Amino acid sequence: MTTTPASPDPAVVTGLPVTIRDLHKSFSGPEVLRGLDLSIAAGELFVLMGPSGCGKSVFLRHLIGLETPTQGEVRIDGEPFGEDTRARFRLAMVFQSGGLLNSLTVAENVGLYLSEHRLRKPGEIARLVADKLALVQLDPAVGSKYPTELSGGMRKRVAIARALITEPQLVLFDEPTSELDPIVALTIGREIHELNRLTGATTLVVTHDRDLAFGIADRIAFMAEGRILAIGTPEDIRSNPHPLIRAFLAADFKPA
Ligand SMILES: Nc1ncnc2c1ncn2[C@@H]1O[C@H](COP(=O)(O)OP(=O)(O)OP(=O)(O)O)[C@@H](O)[C@H]1O
Ligand SMILES: [Mg+2]
Repeated sequence: MTTTPASPDPAVVTGLPVTIRDLHKSFSGPEVLRGLDLSIAAGELFVLMGPSGCGKSVFLRHLIGLETPTQGEVRIDGEPFGEDTRARFRLAMVFQSGGLLNSLTVAENVGLYLSEHRLRKPGEIARLVADKLALVQLDPAVGSKYPTELSGGMRKRVAIARALITEPQLVLFDEPTSELDPIVALTIGREIHELNRLTGATTLVVTHDRDLAFGIADRIAFMAEGRILAIGTPEDIRSNPHPLIRAFLAADFKPA
């Protein structure tokens, strides 16, 4: 008897355009975001690159409602984004830490949003979970494992599958290659690119991984100290003369 592998269901969506105007954010101390302006086109694969601590994660959290701006605004699909409008958009975020629940199996993690909100029947959720696992190149048998039993690369894939379960129109990735070896990082980067092309979802990746940024981006914004210093194609950024960008791109380990 032959078994038919679950066929990946790319679930084509209409990607949402995003516009950021004069975005400022401060907590108790100095401003973390100091006036960001950015437009991301529907379906674009946009990378926000910059050094550690420059405010990338804080920025990203504004696009999913986990932070509110001190000043400025976020528009999604032309509408001001806030508590009252958030439910109109299908948004998903793959967190820097993965954010999987260790007490649940992989399948339960991936299907959690649908089961918690009782959006689908259990059989349907199981089918969708199998689809999403296949989409991120995971064997269906992984569904019954617990996150702690998986490698770092597999956990990232599960986190991506979980984000895809709602068929989001905007997907946010926070450091998708952190803590991965270079080969696995390369594969995850390729998969993010392929998912963007297959689904049509607007995709925003924030990272300090130069190889990832240059490997997958349609456009890159370079951020430092809470500001965007340049926006352009990977070629534009590679040849940008700004000293902070030059230093970031040239930084390499050399023994003293
Ligand atoms: N909830 C918070 N309260 C106070 N300060 C915060 C909060 N969240 C972030 N920050 C500060 O904002 C700054 C930017 O942090 P952020 O996590 O956005 O950096 P990042 O660019 O994502 O860095 P990395 O590349 O290391 O992930 C840091 O100085 C951080 O301490
Ligand atoms: Mg971060």
